[in-house]
Amino acid sequence: MSAETFFVTTPIYYVNDAPHIGHGYTTVMGDIITRWHRQRGEDVWYLTGTDEHGQKVLRKAEANGVSPQEWVDKLVEDEWKPLLETIDVANDDFIRTTEQRHLDGSKAFWQDLQDRGAVYQGSFSGWYSVGSEEFVGDDDVADGEGDDEGFKVSTLDGSRVEHMTEENYFFRLSDYQQQLLDFYEANPTFIQPESARNEVISFVSRGLRDLSISRSTFDWGIGVPWDDKHVMYVWVEALLNYVTAIGYGADQERFEKIWPADIHIVGKDIARFHAVIWPAMLMAAGQPVPHQVFAHGWLLVGGQKMSKSKANGIRPDEIVDTFGSDAYRYYFARALTFGSDGSISWEDISARYHAELANGFGNLASRVAAMIGKYFDGTLPAAGDLTDAELTVIDTVAEAVRDADAAIEAVAPQDALAAIWRIVDELNGYITDQAPWKVAKDESQGGEGGRLATILHTAAEGLRVLAVLLNPVMPKASAVLWDSLGAEPALGVLADQRIDAVAAWGQLPAGTVVTKPASLFPRIETAAE
Ligand code: ME8
Ligand code: MG
Repeated sequence: MSAETFFVTTPIYYVNDAPHIGHGYTTVMGDIITRWHRQRGEDVWYLTGTDEHGQKVLRKAEANGVSPQEWVDKLVEDEWKPLLETIDVANDDFIRTTEQRHLDGSKAFWQDLQDRGAVYQGSFSGWYSVGSEEFVGDDDVADGEGDDEGFKVSTLDGSRVEHMTEENYFFRLSDYQQQLLDFYEANPTFIQPESARNEVISFVSRGLRDLSISRSTFDWGIGVPWDDKHVMYVWVEALLNYVTAIGYGADQERFEKIWPADIHIVGKDIARFHAVIWPAMLMAAGQPVPHQVFAHGWLLVGGQKMSKSKANGIRPDEIVDTFGSDAYRYYFARALTFGSDGSISWEDISARYHAELANGFGNLASRVAAMIGKYFDGTLPAAGDLTDAELTVIDTVAEAVRDADAAIEAVAPQDALAAIWRIVDELNGYITDQAPWKVAKDESQGGEGGRLATILHTAAEGLRVLAVLLNPVMPKASAVLWDSLGAEPALGVLADQRIDAVAAWGQLPAGTVVTKPASLFPRIETAAE
């Protein structure tokens, strides 16, 4: 990681429309990684934000009869910032590309590129997709079919392209082909997963053309510092958010503390921008390049990529209103393989909610607390001698913690949750096998240090570990559990609990006050069930 700060980013999203669960997905995964690293004791900085310039947003505002500034202000305040509340994201910063710090920082970066001879003026004639704000080469343009009959489309993503001829500034991207290939070779995890890495390497190997980086036929953008007839090409400006948000050109000390990014989390649609253009821009400006770009796959709904333009976009609050933000976060992290496409459905969310969260985890937490209430008046008893059954629980926990941490290191949250769920399953099996309700009938096994106390203390310790490990994924339920265990007076606040210390056994002291939690995941009758 960068010298001092573990820096995590999401893409900045276009504000042509309201967010859907695809945007929610990226942002939640970044948040889970962020919270986990925080609980490793690292100094973490999590940035998200909005991409507000360019023709796509401009046209949308025009179609709605308002100025682009009015359009973006309203959408950011009404939709994009509230999204973070809805899905319980603890970002440290939110950058809007219409903010002064971004204007100033972008201009400073451009000036640096210019001073280093990386920019020249020329004329551009070719295809452009406003839908993906992308220049499209002649080889990637085809005749449209169906709804696109009579139009030209990009074969990269099916979006319509327009022919344009403009005076532009260009970036000498072609100079960086070999440097990029050498860099990928020396840094095999720079672009992940492997599928994205292979795609990027083969793209760069085919040769790079210089990139048009300004536009001169509209003005919704940031002016080129030495030529106000041009605005910066929206992608080149958007990528700069990662440095303008942390002080580039304004606060060098802060910038150096946080940069380079440790992980840019993006969807695979924009992997090339992040893994080719962005490092080349940084190399040209003499700046360090990010440590990793992680490109995740598509959320598929009914087998199709969900998108705003296809109108199959599901709003995050449609799911959160029914299942809550914890279950939302859990579902996307657990049910999909980060880095691959994955289908989601209401039925699957509901099934996992009931099987894994309500019955698997929620019940466990309430049963254990209820038994400590019933048999020990809600005061955690001291454990007595441990038997093989307890030692197995302790070993399972230690191994699961190691595996979960390694999975997060490998950017595989689904594997981290699978490892954590081995603890849930182990504890449920342990309680069934030990049958404390039977042990309780035998008076010789009661009291402090007796068998019943040992079983319930072990189960409570297991729950302590689960609260800590699940906090990055389900902060609300974990807080309720931590509270129910009465853990804070002895152990401190939940978010300060360290992953590397969690498996050490016996942290909840005897005498801790345990209360039955409010139902963590109440049963839900859903329309689709
Ligand atoms: O590309 N499945 O913004 P954007 C999974 N402004 N993730 C999805 C998704 C889906 N079906 N649909 C969207 C832009 N996403 C630029 C980025 S960054 C310097 C500039 C997510 O609003 C995914 O993260 O089109 C994807 O990369 C991103 O939204 C695209 O958001
Ligand atoms: Mg897009």
